[in-house]
Amino acid sequence: MAAGNKVSAAVLISGSGTNLQSFIDKVASGTLDLGLAVVLSNKPGAAGLERARQAGIPVECVQHGDYPDRESFDTALVDTLDRYVPDLIVLAGFMRILTPVFIDHFAGRIFNIHPSLLPKYPGLDTHQRAIDAGDQWAGSTVHFATEELDGGPPIIQGRVPVLPDDTADTLAARVLAVEHRIYPEAAALFAAGRLRYRDGGAWLDGERLDQPIQYE
Ligand code: GAR
Repeated sequence: MAAGNKVSAAVLISGSGTNLQSFIDKVASGTLDLGLAVVLSNKPGAAGLERARQAGIPVECVQHGDYPDRESFDTALVDTLDRYVPDLIVLAGFMRILTPVFIDHFAGRIFNIHPSLLPKYPGLDTHQRAIDAGDQWAGSTVHFATEELDGGPPIIQGRVPVLPDDTADTLAARVLAVEHRIYPEAAALFAAGRLRYRDGGAWLDGERLDQPIQYE
């Protein structure tokens, strides 16, 4: 980042982009001091691309099907994103597993949001798994992305109750609402220089976070 400039983010999406929208809205209202440099999707039809266009943010599409393996896809992602010189990579419903080609290039500067109270339920179908397990609480976790899928150090968690008549869809909607609060919150801490990745951990105001910040 050049001196005096805002911290800038690249947001990677695969679908609806409601988390992206929460960033766009908070930047527009002045409650999140972050530059949105580019929105990239691996799917040309991702609805989130239209949200980006409406907000005047440059968009890029890199389709995984155009590449023979994960490493060459990740190389294309890196090459595309580097043109925008982002300080922070925000994975916001980006449904591809990333290799060390990507993770090492942006080491310590990648956020992911995962719709469970990690370390519970890494991977897919998180809401149904929480319902099937009879959990009282579900939620979402923002964490620094590392080579371990959904395994990097957590930053902030938002939890919501699981209600008796919940389906995966109704629970997902409740979790999304809390995601729209915690994800910009984490980005604001990073943009303010208060949150960093170091020695395999998340550090806030110079102290290693033993537990993620809890948000309810
Ligand atoms: C969000 O719930 C996010 O946590 C999840 O995808 C959704 C994207 O919604 N991410 C993952 O499952 C990643 N493993 P959005 O496109 O409306 O922001």
